[in-house]
Amino acid sequence: MDFALTSEHELIREMAAKFGRQEVLPGLTERDREGKSDRTLLDKMGEAGILGVSIPEVYGGSGSDYVSLGLVCEELERADTSARVVLSVHSGLHCLTLLQWATEEQKKRWLPKLASGERVGGFGLTEPNAGSDAINIQTHARKDGDSYVLNGEKTWISLADYADQFLVIARLQEPGDKARHAAFIVERNTPGFSSRPIKGKLGVRAGNTGQIFFDNLRVGAENRIGEDGDGFKVAMSALDHGRYTVASGAVGIIVACLEASTEYARSRKVSGEEIGRKQLVQQMIAHMAASRDIGRLLYYQVGWMKNTGIRHTREVSMAKWQNCNNAFQSASDAIEIHGAYGYCDEFPVERYFRNSRGAVIYEGTREIHTLVQAEYALGYRTDRPLARTLPKWPVKA
Ligand code: CAA
Repeated sequence: MDFALTSEHELIREMAAKFGRQEVLPGLTERDREGKSDRTLLDKMGEAGILGVSIPEVYGGSGSDYVSLGLVCEELERADTSARVVLSVHSGLHCLTLLQWATEEQKKRWLPKLASGERVGGFGLTEPNAGSDAINIQTHARKDGDSYVLNGEKTWISLADYADQFLVIARLQEPGDKARHAAFIVERNTPGFSSRPIKGKLGVRAGNTGQIFFDNLRVGAENRIGEDGDGFKVAMSALDHGRYTVASGAVGIIVACLEASTEYARSRKVSGEEIGRKQLVQQMIAHMAASRDIGRLLYYQVGWMKNTGIRHTREVSMAKWQNCNNAFQSASDAIEIHGAYGYCDEFPVERYFRNSRGAVIYEGTREIHTLVQAEYALGYRTDRPLARTLPKWPVKA
């Protein structure tokens, strides 16, 4: 296990950091304040090659390894969570899941356009009455000859109004039957598809989140990912990839909190002394520094396991759980250090606080990851090798 970053990693990290500085940060405070997402950011991400990160060259991507995706997520979220969320759904939940589960024909059909940014991918699992209880989704796919007819709705869908196609999980029979889900690529322009945004979010206000609806939407069997009955496994695989992007992105928030807090603590004086000299402030700064280093080790490990083709469901759950908790704690401490200045958007730390709260909930709540980790430790849950794995890096056709 060698966690030293290569010169390619450093280049890709710097490219993402520059993109964050030049394309995400300008105008962000206003967009966040007004709850406006910027659709052109997706085009810019496509042009910069960011949407093709970790998609193999044979399918039109950059061919970079899976660690690279984590590095890009860290740097994008250092600028703003809304930019990292794009990679979570497009690259993590959508593209890597296709790489793992789609047929060769399906990969050739979709991945090149997704890699170039000509198309943007989304993901649909969560429903109004099924979040943690993902197995009991109600969206229904009725088989009709060579196609399926979908009815239902999905909520809390990132890029609901922008993605061109969604990886949608539906049930084929009754709720509670593990073996009877299926996964489909649903394209936005299919009759019966509609979307609407969710307004009034606490955080990620510069990002698009919404609901998607299927009203007798007909999808051909050629759009089914995996076989009938694979849908829940496809969903859980997707979460292995999505949680990786959330875990690595959370480190970006921790880094941003550390940067803002150290700068402020060195400039703000109390009774003639920098507040950075105060031990209680130092305690919070030290926790942020430890969270950054531990967070990187946790996600680098997952990236390495992805590269080498090892199942990492336990490790990615641990990384997502710990890094999101630590990002939220770091953001809270950053506000503490900034005092009243931390309470308004003159400084970015209140945005880090609101943005980091969501990630404690989505892609597996803090409670779900706590229970899952306890089950692993107690021996009630084990990760058996998977029949369908993400291809090892470097990927050949
Ligand atoms: N990869 C492939 N297959 C997997 C898998 C993985 N990572 N994890 C499980 N499976 C397979 C298992 O092998 C098993 O198959 P067999 O029966 O053939 O052995 C099957 O799936 C069921 O697995 P489990 O028994 O582990 O399933 P469970 O019922 O115990 O899972 C749970 C419970 C862990 C709580 C799971 O339901 C879960 O993770 N829930 C949280 C869902 C979640 O994170 N939702 C967020 C959605 S995305 C989102 O958040 C977007 C947004 O809102 C912004």
